[in-house]
Amino acid sequence: MNNIILIGFMGCGKSTVGRELLAKTGFELIDADAYIEKTTGMKISDIFSKHGESWFREQESLAMENLSKRSGCIISCGGGVVETAKNRDILKAGGKVIYLKASLDNLWARVGRDPNRPLSKNYESFRSLFDKRKSVYEDWADVVIDTRGKSPAKIAELIIEAVK
Ligand code: S3P
Repeated sequence: MNNIILIGFMGCGKSTVGRELLAKTGFELIDADAYIEKTTGMKISDIFSKHGESWFREQESLAMENLSKRSGCIISCGGGVVETAKNRDILKAGGKVIYLKASLDNLWARVGRDPNRPLSKNYESFRSLFDKRKSVYEDWADVVIDTRGKSPAKIAELIIEAVK
């Protein structure tokens, strides 16, 4: 499938870069979290508080299965999509996987204690999640973009160049 799949930790700019890519490519932009909110009829923070993280992960997996079958889309994924082997396989089969790499300090400054992000409540757990996932993002991506010091427009240009 010829999708552009954006992965990376919370706050790395997947949504913003996704919008830049939309403007530059005309591909359809799909935000996986927004899709889950639509299909479940619940906000992500309510899903976590009412049903727990594992139920959210099941919904996320279903969403990825459905979305990765499409083509010509920019799919902006939730930061935890790489947690399961099943999702990682779905991503790989679904298109070019792009990791937006950013520093922990920048990520925390952008989304630390965001009430809409249940896993960014506390710095220590945010950091250990980042430490656990960072090599998985790197290993699993087809393309790694170091976002530090780059504008969303520049990052989008680099992605387009890389997927050509
Ligand atoms: C999560 C990231 C969130 C959202 C959910 C879980 C994670 O998406 O899917 O809160 O496990 O890192 P963003 O990466 O868009 O914030």
